[in-house]
Amino acid sequence: MDRNAKRKIIILALLTGLIALFHYLTPTEPHDYHKIHIVLRKLYFLPPVMAAAWFGLRGACFTALAVSLLFILHAFLDWPGNYMEQANQVGELAGFWMAAVIPGWLFDKQRTLLQELANANEETLLGLVSALDLREHNTRLHSQRVREYTELLATRYGVDGAVLREIGFGALLHDVGKIAVPDRILLKPDKLTDEEWQEMRKHPEAGYRIVKRIGFLKEAAEIVHAHHERFDGTGYPRGLKGDAIPLGARLFMVADVYDALTSQRPYKPALAHEDAATEIQKQKGTQLDPEVVTTFLAIEPAELRQIAERYHDANSKDTFSLTH
Ligand SMILES: [Fe+2]
Repeated sequence: MDRNAKRKIIILALLTGLIALFHYLTPTEPHDYHKIHIVLRKLYFLPPVMAAAWFGLRGACFTALAVSLLFILHAFLDWPGNYMEQANQVGELAGFWMAAVIPGWLFDKQRTLLQELANANEETLLGLVSALDLREHNTRLHSQRVREYTELLATRYGVDGAVLREIGFGALLHDVGKIAVPDRILLKPDKLTDEEWQEMRKHPEAGYRIVKRIGFLKEAAEIVHAHHERFDGTGYPRGLKGDAIPLGARLFMVADVYDALTSQRPYKPALAHEDAATEIQKQKGTQLDPEVVTTFLAIEPAELRQIAERYHDANSKDTFSLTH
């Protein structure tokens, strides 16, 4: 169970306990107190509805059960021998269960639909980057591999939740702007001329313009924009320096350099992890954020190898000679 879920369970338990406490302590005589007593009784609906929103049907049913036990105990203690009032209060239990079951079922349904929507978004983005990777690298797994390295590194750096997801999308889509780079430049096996470099260097901005239009990718767009910045300020397109570079881009840079070093290209063999780590260490403070490098180098090589193997391209030897 994660920290967030534990926090929510504590809130539910405290809220239910407080409602029960005040309900037990508020007398039914005189009449004014009885009004407060009845209002407190209605508050028992709150925990099952909150549990439904946070945990779905199962959590809502557990909460309704706890609320029912507390409430019914009170009904029998407060109204001894008054069978009419006791019957009336037993009827109230049906309401608590309705407040648990119906929202619980609806929230579960909503969660399933949101998950389906997220999966559809994910598949669409994967389709897009696979097409781009195939065009440039003749492989379709480069972006997914870099995304996983970046997410692993981000997790170790202490990032989680929605921010981690955004950083993953940013890493996945980093080169989407290359769609605007002509084939004669993008696929040129030789060195680029100055003019061609100028054209090539427009791809972070082109990517930014594409990605920022998509509502759920606003933060990812910032990473796309900054993915060729360097920690010492000598990168492009804006020459951002140090912490002015979004954290996601600083994390991505280390992951991307690692992937480039450990991937085979026609003009160079794939480096072993130790050699790649030494190279990354050399870039500390120049291209790469020193703190991010330290976090990256603390990751077990086996964890990185697992990602490399999961997204290994069988035909990676056929990759084009690309240095940009
Ligand atoms: Fe790029």
